[in-house]
Amino acid sequence: MYTRTSTLLRTTKPFLRLMSTSAEPLVLASRSNNNNVAILTLNRPKALNALSSPLFDQLNQELTKADEDESVRAIVLTGGEKNFAAGADIKEMKDKQFADVYKNNFLGSWTRMSSIRKPIIGAVAGYALGGGCELAMLCDILLCTPDAKFAQPEITLGIIPGAGGTQRLTHLVGKARAMDMVLTGRRITGVEAAQWGLVSRVTKEGESVVEEAVKLAEQIAGFGRVATQAGKEAVNGALDLPLEQGLRLERRLFQQLFATQDQKEGMGAFSEKRKPTWTDQ
Ligand code: CAA
Repeated sequence: MYTRTSTLLRTTKPFLRLMSTSAEPLVLASRSNNNNVAILTLNRPKALNALSSPLFDQLNQELTKADEDESVRAIVLTGGEKNFAAGADIKEMKDKQFADVYKNNFLGSWTRMSSIRKPIIGAVAGYALGGGCELAMLCDILLCTPDAKFAQPEITLGIIPGAGGTQRLTHLVGKARAMDMVLTGRRITGVEAAQWGLVSRVTKEGESVVEEAVKLAEQIAGFGRVATQAGKEAVNGALDLPLEQGLRLERRLFQQLFATQDQKEGMGAFSEKRKPTWTDQ
């Protein structure tokens, strides 16, 4: 069950009290004021939110729940105001053998997040390293603080990124910058990440990255769900498909939206100079 809270900054505390009788959850689930945004907060602060397998399992469960819940229209994923995530759990990985990671498809479950249909807004403060940077890149829109720290430091551990840090990163920032980050472990700040196109917005002095992400998610939650889902699918098509096929997907989705009530409502409301009321049909 999600908790509903009256202010954004109070979101996690009542939930913690509610959960105090059982094991501490590795992902806290709460809701925005309007109840239409699910806020998922990674909750391993002592390990800087290192992404252990149990944490990722819980994250996948919460993402699936939010995706299936009709009252949720957008999702915020965050590590809170201190750290997003310092990577996959090195202590869990250190003694693993090739045969096990290969047979069990280690990290394979991380890609489940890319099948979530609702928009996911990532809110990054502090460290987003290795798997943390890769998890951030699995979000649809990223916000961060100016001094957030993004890096793919796997090379310093004798490995390479294994959850998108060579692929998504290259799409986002280009080959030279991706090579620089992957081959040297170079850290970039939130400001640089915005200049490089890794994130879309950087918070201003005194702003809460989580609150800003929730505001953005609520703005998206205010639009019709069919068009929102189609927009996400079409933009993701740009990463997966050659241009001609991507353009065909976009045109097909665009044309299909003329079969929706929301298209009639949106254009009708514009003509009648009133606010549209979306029905998600
Ligand atoms: N895995 C497991 N534990 C981690 C961790 C990680 N990725 N990152 C931090 N921690 C733990 C530390 O072990 C420490 O725990 P203990 O107190 O029990 O020793 C706690 O979090 C606090 O960390 P530090 O004492 O190191 O804090 P710091 O402020 O001195 O340094 C840091 C912070 C620079 C982020 C440093 O912790 C660090 O370098 N972490 C590892 C970053 C990294 O290499 N990430 C990539 C992992 S590999 C990966 O992600 C592969 C992939 O593609 C999916």
